[in-house]
Amino acid sequence: MLEYLPQQSPDGILQLKEQLSADPRAQKVDLGVGVYRNASGNTPIMRAVRRAGRQLWEDETTKTYTALAGDAAFLGSVRNLVLGEAPGLNVAAIATPGGTGAVRLGFDLVRMAWPDARVFYTDPTWTNHLSILAYLGMETVPFRYFDAATHDVDMEGMLQDLAQLREGDIVLLHGCCHNPTGADLDAEGWQALIACITGAGAVPMIDLAYLGLGDGIEADAAGLRAVCAACPEVLIALSCSKNFGLYRERVGALMAVTGDARNAALAQGSLTHLNRQTYSFPPDHGARLVTLVLNDPDLRAEWQSELDEMRGQITQLRAALVQELRARSNADRFDFIARHRGMFSMIGASPSQVTQMRTEHAIYMTRDSRINIAGLSARDVPVLAAAMIEVGL
Ligand code: LMR
Repeated sequence: MLEYLPQQSPDGILQLKEQLSADPRAQKVDLGVGVYRNASGNTPIMRAVRRAGRQLWEDETTKTYTALAGDAAFLGSVRNLVLGEAPGLNVAAIATPGGTGAVRLGFDLVRMAWPDARVFYTDPTWTNHLSILAYLGMETVPFRYFDAATHDVDMEGMLQDLAQLREGDIVLLHGCCHNPTGADLDAEGWQALIACITGAGAVPMIDLAYLGLGDGIEADAAGLRAVCAACPEVLIALSCSKNFGLYRERVGALMAVTGDARNAALAQGSLTHLNRQTYSFPPDHGARLVTLVLNDPDLRAEWQSELDEMRGQITQLRAALVQELRARSNADRFDFIARHRGMFSMIGASPSQVTQMRTEHAIYMTRDSRINIAGLSARDVPVLAAAMIEVGL
């Protein structure tokens, strides 16, 4: 039987890791997978999370099953983190294995509710969005989002393309820190988008994997909260991988937000059912760490300041790269890197320039020329800038 399986092509982002470890050169620059590294090149366990871990180790008295939807305290805590004070909203939610688990089950929920839904996605989007949608056999429609010439959001193109939206279509958005481009909507952009979505009766689904890494929690959540205030239904896929540094623990949540209590109850039933059909109970350990951090004022303050440090480091690296590129090119054409937000920027290199940077300079980035700024070190900034100029950017 197994011989009938199709050959799967490797995941472009994760494949880079293997290529990098097989590369014998001593000086390599890893700008591939979206992982934060501190100045010493490590992805540390956050101090607040470590303290929460010790506390959990001491205080947890059982490992018996939790609820099918996940621990209620976790769901309440992340709901408040993401939505803030949002009276009038009914939120159905489940804990999921990471943000990807939430994305996958979010699409499953859509298929159950509206089998003909088309999923409109920002062009480009995270490659795994498209891979999951293809796996599920869902119809996808790209909409213009990133203007390769300005490196900013193509508002006009986006609104023109979204004019095709029909009732029940899904608009897959990035809450902040757009992956892979780094180009985010401003407040006006969000409002224009909301008008388009509500006008058509479409449903926004927001992937929120980088909350706090753009301009801070409140600023990064503002667009999403505006969407929730205006749209009758919103799906949110939350990841705690990056902002809590809990990558391998797989902590995430899927929320269905609506003003209608009856529909929220229906959604809760289906979400819980999806958990049960897929893996029964969601992972709990990482979710409990997040809950402890968010509910203990001292741990929360420490986490908040670590998150601010991470964000500060990303901002500094962006500024340093821009300065280095200005000095080497005598031009300001790379200033967009400082305007971008979050871990990534798409620098506009062609696939052959990306290959050249890898083969000649040992700089690793995805084929679409996305660089993970959060993986860059101050020492590597001049190396990257020199390579970008040398390949002709
Ligand atoms: C990324 O885009 O690099 C991250 O979201 C990690 C992943 O799973 O792809």
